[in-house]
Amino acid sequence: MAAADESPIVSLRRTLYAYQASAALLAAHSLGIFPTIHQKPQVAGDVARRCGADPRGMERLLNALVGLGLLHKHGATYVLPRELAPFVVPGVDGDATGLLDLTADLYRTWGDLARGVKEGVPLHRLSSDALLAGDPARVRNYIRAVHTNSRQAARRLVEMAPLLPGSTLLDVAGGSGIFAAEYARVIPDLKAILLDLAPTIEAAHEILTAEGLEDRVTYRTGDYRQDPFPGPVDAVLLSNLFQTESEEVCRTILAKSREALRPGGTLLVHGMMNEPDETKPPEGTMFSLLMYVLFDHGRAYPAETISGWINQEGFGIRFIRPLGPPLFSKLILATRLE
Ligand SMILES: C[S@@+](CC[C@H](N)C(=O)[O-])C[C@H]1O[C@@H](n2cnc3c(N)ncnc32)[C@H](O)[C@@H]1O
Repeated sequence: MAAADESPIVSLRRTLYAYQASAALLAAHSLGIFPTIHQKPQVAGDVARRCGADPRGMERLLNALVGLGLLHKHGATYVLPRELAPFVVPGVDGDATGLLDLTADLYRTWGDLARGVKEGVPLHRLSSDALLAGDPARVRNYIRAVHTNSRQAARRLVEMAPLLPGSTLLDVAGGSGIFAAEYARVIPDLKAILLDLAPTIEAAHEILTAEGLEDRVTYRTGDYRQDPFPGPVDAVLLSNLFQTESEEVCRTILAKSREALRPGGTLLVHGMMNEPDETKPPEGTMFSLLMYVLFDHGRAYPAETISGWINQEGFGIRFIRPLGPPLFSKLILATRLE
């Protein structure tokens, strides 16, 4: 994205070559460089031998990773920055390698973006039916990636919209359950129900168990397109959901949320919501394109569009607020009327 005082060729080149940094990071992940160096800081020749790679190529790659700030170099020895380990080393607390695995798949897909735009079909379909019929390992990667991406937002949401002690929260399409678990961690005696498709529930249980959070939530298998929601509940959370669905399905979900909520109950809608003309913020426009690549009806709808649906489905809006840096998503808080 162009800085104001940058010449056109400089900003063009920066965008054109941005793929090289992604490729270097993904190559490092695929070759097992991070766990190797995490185990023991070492010189390029040793990393190459342990990873089964060409020493000359490995040295170039390691130096490029240093340039990207993903490794440090002391003398000839490469070191993994301690704060990066949880994100790039499998099995380390808070392991975020699902995000790297999913991005490695997406990287190949994005190379074919022109075809996707021409043909109007998702290149890497993650819609409901694809999740139900697909490879469980692919679902697991997706949900592990979502877990990493949602952790910070979950913490922010609990601060922005705390619930009363003893409330019941229904987290529809709750993914890894990170929002439900975070609410249950902070709000005393909160009962959190995680509703999602069976393959996702299985992945969520595994992810939460690895972090010792599995008992914080109640698991419920269901399909938001055809199953009623459990209720009555005090709050319904719809996080990062509307951006994956058509207007028709979003409205169905809102109507079901209303039925599940007690009168006066709270609706929380969280996700990436772009400005009304859908060209801002830049992170949001790229995200909307990603939704197009993944889902049949993916789109980062503007907050104004979503709040219009919410009003029409019998809710009163209390506020619409951005989560704030470094996050670009927004929260709409509403109350069920009557
Ligand atoms: C982008 S993820 C959002 C997960 C979570 N709410 C978050 O913000 O981290 C979308 C979720 O929708 C779930 N999902 C997709 N189709 C569904 C359906 N028909 N019924 C219930 N859940 C569904 C997926 O399994 C996935 O967990």
